[in-house]
Amino acid sequence: MYCTRKITKDITYIGGSDRRLALFENIYPIPNGISYNAYFINDEKTAIIDTVDKSVSALFFENVAHVLGSRALDYVIVDHMEPDHAAALEELVLRYPQVKIVCNAKSSAMLKQFFSFDTDAHTLLVKEGDTLSLGAHTLAFYMAPMVHWPEVMVTYDETEQVLFSADAFGTFGALHGSIFADELPFGAAEFSEARRYYTNIVGKYGVQTLALLKKAAGLDIQMLCPLHGPVWRKDIAVFVEKYQTWGAYTPEQKGVFIVYGSVYGGTQNAAEILAAKLSEKGVPTAVYDASVTHVSYLVSEAFRYSHLVFAAATYNNDIFTPVEALLTDLKAHALKNRTVGLIQNGSWAPQSGKKMRELLESMQNMTVLPETVTVRSAVKEETLAELDTLCNALLASLSA
Ligand code: FEO
Repeated sequence: MYCTRKITKDITYIGGSDRRLALFENIYPIPNGISYNAYFINDEKTAIIDTVDKSVSALFFENVAHVLGSRALDYVIVDHMEPDHAAALEELVLRYPQVKIVCNAKSSAMLKQFFSFDTDAHTLLVKEGDTLSLGAHTLAFYMAPMVHWPEVMVTYDETEQVLFSADAFGTFGALHGSIFADELPFGAAEFSEARRYYTNIVGKYGVQTLALLKKAAGLDIQMLCPLHGPVWRKDIAVFVEKYQTWGAYTPEQKGVFIVYGSVYGGTQNAAEILAAKLSEKGVPTAVYDASVTHVSYLVSEAFRYSHLVFAAATYNNDIFTPVEALLTDLKAHALKNRTVGLIQNGSWAPQSGKKMRELLESMQNMTVLPETVTVRSAVKEETLAELDTLCNALLASLSA
């Protein structure tokens, strides 16, 4: 049975949520599920903005049939070709063969890669700034390459001032009947999931994100309709400001994110002693075990904090692998503009500090403090003095 929600006079939500999927993109844990949003515009011409993932496609087609009634479907606008939004396109064309697929040239090429039907026969190509009249509604199209794929565009409804923002402004988590962010408690935990979504999915493309925000700044946006998570009709500026911060790789929180990779507890002990020393001085700290917390949460936290400390055992003459994986991921996501402290452990030949330093120094604008703390198996009195030195260096940097 259909399950839709009217979000303006003419626009209806026709997407769905998946609470069974363990890993989004087969990599990111989604303990609270995910929504795949799609929208319908009811006008002289009818239009759908994006389709959905195959997991919710049965509901989507019930919703489409319901909102159309006896009317024809004139357009489907493809803002993003990734299968979590485009998987239902071929079936949509089979069910509504007169539909025109409104997309850009890059999407048109991808249509041919993903599908085997005659895509050209259905395609209506648009480019930057083009408009499409549905009757009362005029849609304008703006390219948003690499937010998150190269073909991404966003669609702006000039009539109701609604921005269909594709993956931008998305959030992990299923919807709860309530569809607007202001109907939910959208507090710190929810912003954490929006941050984890942005940093992991789009984080590498900060420059392109800022370019999209610049275009969006020229539009009067009364409603923000992303492809995942709630719709925004209040406090849009708050979310836009978060995107400015994340896109510019600017820390949100002055404080220290400490992550450790520990085999028998010595490295963990050093990390926790440092956290206690910093906390005693009033510094916000967060401590994670890289072997326990999924790397997507750690990437998100690293984007959040101004100062990072990596503590790792030496393993196979290198960095203990969970910490090495995190550092590699942070480099892949182009994290920059952070001050970093290091703690290494090695029972006979400590090497992880040197290796971590090399990796961090290959990233952009990372200030690695010269004081590497060395633990030899377990923390001793002399290690405490080294931890004090690192603590003081972090305090000095935090107050600079
Ligand atoms: Fe939600 Fe890039 O797809």
